[in-house]
Amino acid sequence: MSFHLIEQATARLNRSELAVPGSQPDMFEKAAASDADVIFLDLEDAVAPDNKKQARKNIIKALNDMDWGSKTLSIRINGLDTHYMYRDVVDIVEQAGERLDLIMVPKVGTAADVYAVDMLVTQIEDAKGYKKRIGFEHIIETALGMQNVTEIAAASKRNESLHFGVADYAASTRARTTVIGGVNPDYSVLTDAGDGHERQVHWGDMWHYALARMVVACRANGLRPVDGPFGDFQDKDGYIAAAKRAAVLGCEGKWAIHPSQIGLANEVMSPSDAEVNKAERILVAMQEAEKAGKGAVSLDGRLIDFASIRQAEVLVEKARQISVA
Ligand code: GLV
Ligand code: MG
Repeated sequence: MSFHLIEQATARLNRSELAVPGSQPDMFEKAAASDADVIFLDLEDAVAPDNKKQARKNIIKALNDMDWGSKTLSIRINGLDTHYMYRDVVDIVEQAGERLDLIMVPKVGTAADVYAVDMLVTQIEDAKGYKKRIGFEHIIETALGMQNVTEIAAASKRNESLHFGVADYAASTRARTTVIGGVNPDYSVLTDAGDGHERQVHWGDMWHYALARMVVACRANGLRPVDGPFGDFQDKDGYIAAAKRAAVLGCEGKWAIHPSQIGLANEVMSPSDAEVNKAERILVAMQEAEKAGKGAVSLDGRLIDFASIRQAEVLVEKARQISVA
């Protein structure tokens, strides 16, 4: 292990993150009663410019008056390049900051963007005498943000998670897409022509590099990586496939842009009983190996060693968090 210890962000379940437009307060009760781990009330792209003011008011009222239970609550503010952003932060943190857990900052481009929001939030929290510190979740969704993802991840003690905003990322990089978060048949390889076999097309995941790069920046800074939206909410299988590949790369959660996606995300992002059982057996086997003075043993015909303990511990801890949620 490096001498540099990685401090882990506040531990929270973040398997599903439900997007709810701040301009549609009729959706708030249903969101509060849903199984989403995190809810973000949106002031940004789901809200038309003329409705921004009213959306802020709706959110302030809902944060103060509604019973959200133990839900983790976030607001997505407008980008730092708009004049809406300062009012989003000032009005909501001043008037309802005590019930707010997180602020989601869209289109973060540089570490200085994070610094600016941190400065504003710190002043309001201090002035209001809030005891709790609001955390940050940043959407990596521009070429600039991806270029600076390492610095962004390390830019504030408030940082908890980074989210891959695939829709804006496609716009920013001018990637050719078909559906938000889906794949494009043109991103494929054709098997070699040489050997007389029928040639086959193998589809690839055009988002692999971006997602993997964001996961590394997160984990090197103790943050949660979360995969963003999948636009076709009728395509359950497409959503599950996208969530699974994000989970395989190390993501802890995925957005739900429709309530029907919440259960799918929770399912994919939770370890299965069989995985938890195996992890517990690994921990027992390694305890016994340690007693016997061995660093590695075999379990079910496979080698396990001290690295297996760390993986097993992560899994068992996640299962514990889910069981107490
Ligand atoms: C999310 O904000 C996205 O652009 O995908
Ligand atoms: Mg976006």
